Amino acid sequence: MTLNAVASPKEHQQQLQNYFLKKSPALSLNSYAEEYHHRGNTITASGLPPYSQYTQQGKKLFSETFSNGHGYRYCFRSNGMGIASDFPYFDVLSGQVKTLATEINACREENGEPAYAYDQAEMKSIHLYMMESSRRNITNVIMPNDPAAEEAFNKGQQLFFSRRGQLDMACAHCHIDFSNQRYSEQLIPPALGLPLRMPRYDKASDTVTTLHERFNECLSYTRAKPFPLQSEVLRNLEFYLFYVNNTLPLNAPSIK
Ligand code: HEC
Repeated sequence: MTLNAVASPKEHQQQLQNYFLKKSPALSLNSYAEEYHHRGNTITASGLPPYSQYTQQGKKLFSETFSNGHGYRYCFRSNGMGIASDFPYFDVLSGQVKTLATEINACREENGEPAYAYDQAEMKSIHLYMMESSRRNITNVIMPNDPAAEEAFNKGQQLFFSRRGQLDMACAHCHIDFSNQRYSEQLIPPALGLPLRMPRYDKASDTVTTLHERFNECLSYTRAKPFPLQSEVLRNLEFYLFYVNNTLPLNAPSIK
């Protein structure tokens, strides 16, 4: 894909969406959010999705009261339900991208509870539960009128387009140029829709994979070094990826 290097975030988003619309004129933008990996029945014999033990656990943890009498529902608008599309966002005060995961931990710490590790089962369960309540919400990442926000976007974009690792490949090579082709056994999902199905439930291992864990798994394909989960680098990448997916619906959790 040839990109205008000086494009603004908005222009870049439109170029990317137009690229896919042109490449596959029969596909609507919304269809890029659909389940990508899973082709079978998503309901188990119990009538529940296969990841339901995680969302049930998440619901239980989410409704718990902290030792100071508060709870998660006080930290988020609408009691925290159906609001995952508020994230990620660029926080002008701190100059940082905030994600749903960092805000779950911020809520804990403000209330005197220890932060969770980002790969901890409790964190993943709460995250999954909040995402499930937001399925079909429209991605609407706002670009505040602040050069630092555009810089965060640009850093995410640079990471997506820069070659790295021993394979010397960029995310964009696989997820734009080679999308829907095979990488070893696996089909490569297009950049459109890419962040919208995460976290996802991996049936083979009965585990939940978060967006940042998947970023690192993809980095390891090229033998590049992983980044800490929720580090600034990965939050900027998340900000970039959701912004270019603006107007598409969230569709997490998904199943692989
Ligand atoms: C060598 C090709 C290749 C490169 C480079 C690559 N990916 Fe991937 N990516 C894949 C393949 C194949 C899959 C599908 C396998 C899977 O999700 O388990 C995938 C899946 C994903 C998913 C999950 C999508 C979903 O709906 O399940 C995300 C998110 C993702 N990649 C982001 C990235 C980012 C960000 C980068 C750059 C840091 C990157 N990828 C680099 C091949 C690549």
